[in-house]
Amino acid sequence: MPYRRRYTGLIERYRDRLPISDDTRVISLGEGNTPLIKLNNIPKDMDKDVEIYVKYEGLNPTGSFKDRGMCMAVTKAVESGSKAIICASTGNTSAAAAAYAARAGIKAFVLIPEGKIAMGKLAQAVMHGAVVIQIRGNFDDGMQLVKDVAEHAPVTIVNSINPYRLQGQKTAAFEIVEELERAPDFHCLPVGNAGNITAHWIGYTEMACSGEHITDACKLCNGHCPYSGSGMISKRPKMVGYQADGSAPFMRGGPVKDPDTVATAIRIGNPQSWEPAQAVMKESEGWFDECSDEEILAAQQLLATREGVFCEPASATSLAGAMRDINNGKIPEGSTVVCTLTGHGLKDPDIAIKQSKVELVPIDAKLEEVRDAILGNM
Ligand code: F0G
Repeated sequence: MPYRRRYTGLIERYRDRLPISDDTRVISLGEGNTPLIKLNNIPKDMDKDVEIYVKYEGLNPTGSFKDRGMCMAVTKAVESGSKAIICASTGNTSAAAAAYAARAGIKAFVLIPEGKIAMGKLAQAVMHGAVVIQIRGNFDDGMQLVKDVAEHAPVTIVNSINPYRLQGQKTAAFEIVEELERAPDFHCLPVGNAGNITAHWIGYTEMACSGEHITDACKLCNGHCPYSGSGMISKRPKMVGYQADGSAPFMRGGPVKDPDTVATAIRIGNPQSWEPAQAVMKESEGWFDECSDEEILAAQQLLATREGVFCEPASATSLAGAMRDINNGKIPEGSTVVCTLTGHGLKDPDIAIKQSKVELVPIDAKLEEVRDAILGNM
């Protein structure tokens, strides 16, 4: 059997489709190349003739899709001579920023909302040596502060308003098309700032590009349209963005002042990619919708118990919404659906344990007791 080439991350994999030059020092942790898992049991349980795939982005190096964007943002920050990066975060961006800054040997400053970030994410930021600044405020307050302070200090912002973030994140769409040999009919994502849904649309659009700038969103490629002239796919998916109902500015038609949801990753009231995301919806003929915390947690549990896939609550919003829209026919039978699972379940162990109905009562370490515990649960 021939040896397989070592996978060294998405910048090397998609070098010709990213704004990277030959002598750029690449900062990578082997991100990307995540599994596209076909769900076996949930469509059967639903009694629906649909193919549902989950793109398990929780298997990136720091456990979320942010690594795709962060490898590009940090690579370009270092290339430009920056010695420090900064971000506001609900947790995953700060974990990725901390890790890639450590790898690059630069400093990371992360602003997080006090008490509203999952424990695993905080552990990552601390462990990677970031300067963690907890603010008495939410993500939106932190984002504004980051923008303000970057005008007064030599720091590069690595939130998704940094265009290199979306360039890295678009590669998830490339991977999906390469595996399915087409685009899905529907691509469902959880939406916070709406950077990721925009990045996926850039990716699909570049793959559909036949040499002309065909749409407004397409122009976001900034001339880095590697598929130019190739038209690898003839049809792009409808993009569907789901928000938590307590943090659903796209459903309310404007910013939400005090966003709240159990899915802390998407506890965002003032999305930074508001306009691009609206363009994505118009061009893809997709839609936004919202899910309750109960629906989100139920979908998270269903994925874990029926498919063996553990994602964090925010991630399950994509499947929660997709299941509802499959059941109500908005996503018709016969469709191929991809749901992005943005982050790993281990990011937020507290929520998992809290919603579990399992009682952890110790028994004596004796054969009879263990046997009874097993037979009583067969
Ligand atoms: N899912 C997870 C697990 C996230 O961490 C985020 C965003 C999203 C979905 C939403 O993605 O903002 O591109 O629409 N997390 C950011 C953070 C805000 O700070 O980690 P989006």
